[in-house]
Amino acid sequence: MQIIVRDNPQQVAEVAAALIRAQVLRKPETVLGLATGSTPVPLYDALVRLHSAGEADMSRITTYNLDEYVGLAPDHDQSYHYFMWEKLFYGIGVDPGQVHLPSGIAEDLDAECLRYEESIQAAGGIDLQVLGIGLNGHIGFNEPGDTFSNRTCVAELTESTIQANRRFFDSEDQVPRRALTMGIRTIFQSREILLIACGAAKAGIIAQTVHGPIISQVPASVLQLHPNARLLLDKEAAAEL
Ligand code: GLP
Repeated sequence: MQIIVRDNPQQVAEVAAALIRAQVLRKPETVLGLATGSTPVPLYDALVRLHSAGEADMSRITTYNLDEYVGLAPDHDQSYHYFMWEKLFYGIGVDPGQVHLPSGIAEDLDAECLRYEESIQAAGGIDLQVLGIGLNGHIGFNEPGDTFSNRTCVAELTESTIQANRRFFDSEDQVPRRALTMGIRTIFQSREILLIACGAAKAGIIAQTVHGPIISQVPASVLQLHPNARLLLDKEAAAEL
């Protein structure tokens, strides 16, 4: 794992945007894996600025998001569909036909997972996957204890994740309990991985991810085995390394 540390979240976002820009310059038809959560928001702002300034042409990229809540329609303001369009897609001129998220309202969720997985493979796999990390080490919605060999699947969210996501909903009972997520195996097959983490609350789990044993109780620890994984951290998240 390569570890890059910057002073603050803004600098982290600038580095991440530069890495994505370089990737898209090298390969305009890049297949980009994307994440939600609050961490990538400054990165998405930076990409929108680059696009507005004519510095990055993202019209030919294809995107696959990590996950979506079960039961939330794309126009629900807490769905990841909605989040991605608001935070990034409207602002960077992507081809709407090339944007992919799993459907949380599919009638047959297992069939939807299979379809999503096959679509990623048909696109040639993911060139660069952006990840955040949950406080318990989850990536996408692969929670502690989930097997490393999972492909896209339906995940049961842990209590810790439900509590962490509570802030985005009016009440706790509105927080979805399940999500569709790329599996660890799907994520691991990406040619490059860029995990971003900022803030003191992530310091402990980042230390476990980097220095701890590679175990399913810390899903992100699998990245130690990836040939091309970068961790991009602010000083606070790197404090226990
Ligand atoms: C959610 C998402 C993850 C994300 C995590 C951390 O659970 N499914 O992909 O990494 O939140 O979110 P934040 O960046 O807000 O800490």
